[in-house]
Amino acid sequence: MDISTEINGAKLETCVFNASGPNDSTLEELETIGKSKSSAIMMKSCTLEAREGNPEPRYRDLEHGSINSMGLPNLGYKKYVEFASALKKYRKPIVASISGLTLHDNEIIIEAFNSSEADIIEFNPGSPNTIGKPITGYDFNYMDELLTAVMKKSKKPTGVKLPPYFDFVHFERMWNVLKKHKIAFITTINSIGNGLVIDAEKEEAVIKPKGGFGGIGGKYIKYTALANVRKFYQLSEGKVPIIGAGGVYNGIDAFEYILAGATAVQIGTAFIQHGAGIFEKVQNELRQYMHKKGYEKPEDFRGRLKEL
Ligand code: SIN
Repeated sequence: MDISTEINGAKLETCVFNASGPNDSTLEELETIGKSKSSAIMMKSCTLEAREGNPEPRYRDLEHGSINSMGLPNLGYKKYVEFASALKKYRKPIVASISGLTLHDNEIIIEAFNSSEADIIEFNPGSPNTIGKPITGYDFNYMDELLTAVMKKSKKPTGVKLPPYFDFVHFERMWNVLKKHKIAFITTINSIGNGLVIDAEKEEAVIKPKGGFGGIGGKYIKYTALANVRKFYQLSEGKVPIIGAGGVYNGIDAFEYILAGATAVQIGTAFIQHGAGIFEKVQNELRQYMHKKGYEKPEDFRGRLKEL
């Protein structure tokens, strides 16, 4: 059963790989992803300078997902340029994730990755966790400005990871920005920003940053994520690869994403909770489910969700 896919010329042995964020900051962690069945090695979103990130505790597993306010802890982009060379031996696409704090930072980082071994760039303006900064992906005018700068500099296939949208008007506004630029793919969604999880017994928030507000991930967000995949698939008329992220724990989750229009899926919270074996588990279950349904490849059902 062939579940391979292609994202703007980059071939992936399967359509399942890791999301930027969890366990992908150090070379050791990235090596673990390299050795796993993740079909690409996605690196942690990087900034110009190394960042410690937000104060701890800043992540909590929840019954059906997670809350985090990591605050982009990373080693600074130069390290990830180096890591891309070290990871080449795993013979799978290496994805650089870029979250510069200013337009100019993003330009510098993109230039550095242009001459690196990274195969693909995922531009991430969707993080809800940078203290003192709004979620960039909700500022449509600034997104246009940022994408103009980023796409002009980038010499590698470059996509954008979006925060979730909830209103058809906002999907359309974002799409009107995206369609002006030669984006290689859309990844959707980042965590749902600024949730609040409370420990009733202790009468306190479960994470420290921002008074307890953080991005919600895992099963809680799957339906929002599926809707975002579907909407951008429809708006782009299936012409831009959509990478779905949010609550993928099993093969049926991955199947649903493809049915909604996804070209690939990323795994975040479930990777933290179940370890690197999750990639193979989801891939095997997807193959089994496709077999049961009589499909041979994702193209047989991609985007073919039936409406009632
Ligand atoms: C973080 O480091 O805060 C998570 C990254 C993201 O939300 O994009």
